[in-house]
Amino acid sequence: MKVAVVGATGMVGNVLLQVLAERNFPITELLVVASERSVGKQLEYKGKKYTVIGLQDAVDAHPDIALFSAGGTTSEIWAPKFAEVGCTVVDNSSAWRMDATKKLIVPEINGNILTKEDKIIANPNCSTIQLVMALAPLHKKYTMKRVVISTYQSVSGTGVKAVQQLEDETKGIKGEMAYHYPIHRNAIPHCDVFLENGYTKEEMKLVKEPKKILGDNSFSVTATAVRIPTAGGHSEAVNVQFENDFDLGEVRKLLHTTPGVVVQDNLDTNTYPMPIYAHTKDDVFVGRIRRDESQPNTLNMWIVADNLRKGAATNTIQIAEYLIENNLV
Ligand SMILES: NC(=O)c1ccc[n+]([C@@H]2O[C@H](COP(=O)([O-])OP(=O)(O)OC[C@H]3O[C@@H](n4cnc5c(N)ncnc54)[C@H](OP(=O)(O)O)[C@@H]3O)[C@@H](O)[C@H]2O)c1
Repeated sequence: MKVAVVGATGMVGNVLLQVLAERNFPITELLVVASERSVGKQLEYKGKKYTVIGLQDAVDAHPDIALFSAGGTTSEIWAPKFAEVGCTVVDNSSAWRMDATKKLIVPEINGNILTKEDKIIANPNCSTIQLVMALAPLHKKYTMKRVVISTYQSVSGTGVKAVQQLEDETKGIKGEMAYHYPIHRNAIPHCDVFLENGYTKEEMKLVKEPKKILGDNSFSVTATAVRIPTAGGHSEAVNVQFENDFDLGEVRKLLHTTPGVVVQDNLDTNTYPMPIYAHTKDDVFVGRIRRDESQPNTLNMWIVADNLRKGAATNTIQIAEYLIENNLV
């Protein structure tokens, strides 16, 4: 496969290169692509140096697969140009996620809907991916009615600039600000931009994307997304009301047997998921599984994952692997 990594110099791009190498993705030629600012820079992949090229040069090279993580505007303009030359694009931005003509994929859940005709495939939002990984098996068994999510999101979700802001503030250095406020020793209830309904775009992604991925509009979702000074992963406090009652032991077993989900839930040993331990892992970790005693058929849980791995790079590459394994590219 001739593979282009678009946004290769960024936070997600860097992890894409790492995960491609780790999983020994079948690459015959690698193109590392970024903005004009980075053209000529050198990036390393499997110990070899690659020179960053611009978008037009990458299109002209006719890659088989392009993994995009260069922001929504770049995807809107350039993903169709890659698709036009026969390339299959897997896009990490929000540009195509809710487009009715594009599929929004978490391979373990709905990879089976992909076909050869899908030339631009959307990777869900990082907070959505870890959420649906835990919700999908429970929804199948007990049927969700309503989900309430509060997120505690890592600065790595905002990109290189935000990680730098936290590092600078930790060391007492006055540098460039990715956020309106200091993030060190703070919690900012503002992820992505505000919309007319008073929610942020990030919160509305959590409301809309799970329905598209699970192919079901019958449940409702509400969310509050908060940025906190961690770097290793996103955490989510999730309250789910089901149509049907459940047994806690069975819930744990269902999650335990779901590929890609790891249950960490032992109060005797203070075992529960935390971003510091989820960092660099591909799994979604679930713990603090307990009954909501204020309402029937309702569950509380705590979900943590590395937003740059399963929340972005790993899921993107799993989509590409699925396409190859099923001769769809
Ligand atoms: N961070 C996450 O957890 C996460 C998770 C899921 C999805 N995403 C999405 O992935 C995308 C990248 O996020 P990130 O966190 O990696 O951001 P980032 O660290 O700021 O990196 C942005 C990347 O995009 C490139 N880029 C920017 N403008 C470009 C242009 N006009 N043409 C070509 N390349 C351009 C940058 O190249 P230069 O270095 O040359 O500027 C850089 O490689 C975003 O759409 C984001 O929403 C991020």
